[in-house]
Amino acid sequence: MTQDTTIMCAPVQGITDCHWRNAHYDIFGGPDRYYGPFMRVEHGDIRKRDIADSRPENNTVPSFTPQILACRPQDAIRMVNALVEMGHNTIDINLGCPFPPIALHHKGSGLLQYPDEVEKLFKTLSEVEGVNYSVKMRLGWDEPKQWRDIVALFDIINPSQIVVHPRIGRQQYKGVLNLDEFADILSMCHYPVVFNGEIRTLEEITRFKQIFPDIAGIMIGRGLIEDPAMLCPEKGTADNYCELHNRLRDAYTQQLNGGEHQLLMKMKSFWEMYLPNAPHKSLKAIKKATSMAKYNIAVSELFYSL
Ligand SMILES: Cc1cc2nc3c(=O)[nH]c(=O)nc-3n(C[C@H](O)[C@H](O)[C@H](O)COP(=O)(O)O)c2cc1C
Repeated sequence: MTQDTTIMCAPVQGITDCHWRNAHYDIFGGPDRYYGPFMRVEHGDIRKRDIADSRPENNTVPSFTPQILACRPQDAIRMVNALVEMGHNTIDINLGCPFPPIALHHKGSGLLQYPDEVEKLFKTLSEVEGVNYSVKMRLGWDEPKQWRDIVALFDIINPSQIVVHPRIGRQQYKGVLNLDEFADILSMCHYPVVFNGEIRTLEEITRFKQIFPDIAGIMIGRGLIEDPAMLCPEKGTADNYCELHNRLRDAYTQQLNGGEHQLLMKMKSFWEMYLPNAPHKSLKAIKKATSMAKYNIAVSELFYSL
């Protein structure tokens, strides 16, 4: 990576788990830091797979930051304590998740419309000693100026950085990026601000750095999942793409204990983002596969055609 910009790999629930992160780093490398998809409390407990995914021994990348979903202070503190107990001292707070069942329960980007609740959350979290927080956020839930009531609250937790995806929650992952509001955050916030959104090439990284020379870094999500060699095009070989796939298939075969249907579903969901420019016919064959045997043939044909 020849860029002088700090590059971070974004968390993407369902894809960038520890298996993906470790394999991505080993085969392609490129990002300076990897972020874990958000940990959450469900039915009164932290999800077991979130705990396993965050354990330092399951993460072999040189720099890994786990994330918690912004939520009720009592749930957030449980997650922070669990992460601290594992040995983490840097934790990211997700104020960006736009998924309505989450956001409508005052979590993720849904919390951005309730500064009072954000304040309570930050105050509770600031009481834990020895933890450095960072924040990943959107501009708001249903209005792109909602961040303005949140920005003053950052002083409570003194975050090491604020990653901004300049959309509102209601936009989900589509629609125009609001670069005017992003520029305002950048000038008004006295913490390092990182840009996140729709970066898919090295040229775009350079372009963004030129438009916003004061950003502290760039975070990339789908661009790195679609093409894991995005930051190092010379590593974009069929062998490397195949190796990433095989490492994931092996890991999920073990994790799902041989359950063929579950494994097939898991791998097909990976292909919803992976290598969208591969031959359409091969991608279609993967999506249509009804057994792992058929899936494996379709995958071999796809890698052969690259
Ligand atoms: C399926 C999916 C799952 C995501 N899961 C998370 C998550 O767990 N935590 C988080 O902070 N962001 C999550 N994101 C948002 C990404 O980290 C990133 O902010 C977003 O995709 C925009 O960046 P990009 O255009 O580079 O992909 C998710 C995005 C997608 C599409």
